[in-house]
Amino acid sequence: MRRKLVAGNWKMNGSKAFINDFQKEFSATVGEFSQVDVALFPPSLLICDAAKHFASSGVVIGAQNVSQFENGAYTGEISAAMLLDVACDAVLVGHSERRALFGEDDCVVLSKVRAAIDVGLAVILCVGETLLERESALVEEVISRQIKFVLNALTLDELSKVTIAYEPVWAIGTGETATPEQAQQVHAFIRGLVAEKDQALSSKMRILYGGSVKPDNAEEIFSKPDVDGGLIGGASLLVADFVSIVRSAIKAS
Ligand code: 13P
Repeated sequence: MRRKLVAGNWKMNGSKAFINDFQKEFSATVGEFSQVDVALFPPSLLICDAAKHFASSGVVIGAQNVSQFENGAYTGEISAAMLLDVACDAVLVGHSERRALFGEDDCVVLSKVRAAIDVGLAVILCVGETLLERESALVEEVISRQIKFVLNALTLDELSKVTIAYEPVWAIGTGETATPEQAQQVHAFIRGLVAEKDQALSSKMRILYGGSVKPDNAEEIFSKPDVDGGLIGGASLLVADFVSIVRSAIKAS
């Protein structure tokens, strides 16, 4: 049985004061939790602060981005080793905002996954189709291309550090969610792709859903057999909503 994971992607939001308030309220309401995993992805500059606040809370702190390079003359970049050095344990790679706004193609995504895994960071690999691709019946083709690019390049050992997040681009920040059935359909397809590589890996690998997950739809989505939790954007900035989504994951476990 896979443990559910609820991950909050704060994107370019938050501050030191926000982390302080968030942590106090989160810890007071959720208290101890052992049934699910929780992770937060603050902006890079706030990772140290978040790691201190959430130290020994069980909440994993991750980064939203990492350089594909090890070190050197890459102004403005942050390496995987630097993230590890500040108690960061995971990183998002391939988010559709990075693919669309920062020109990260499948090659860059693979280099970043490699850079992260090489130092021991866990990776959440994000994939998803645009509305046009869905309307053109290209969902499986797009998802398959994005996933196989990474799947075919890594060993089973390396892939054991990877979680996949299915985030349909048309559902991100739009208030429009994939129905639980649509999510399940793509998640099952993704698991099938992983099974082609290795059956045991596919039954262990977590596949998260992201895209307008809210307190009122989380439990139904998380109850689907191939949905192992969520990657939450907007609702992870509201501690009451995030707590409610974590509780939905516990109920759906
Ligand atoms: P929203 O939950 O705001 O739609 O964002 C999803 C997302 O992009 C998480 O990475």
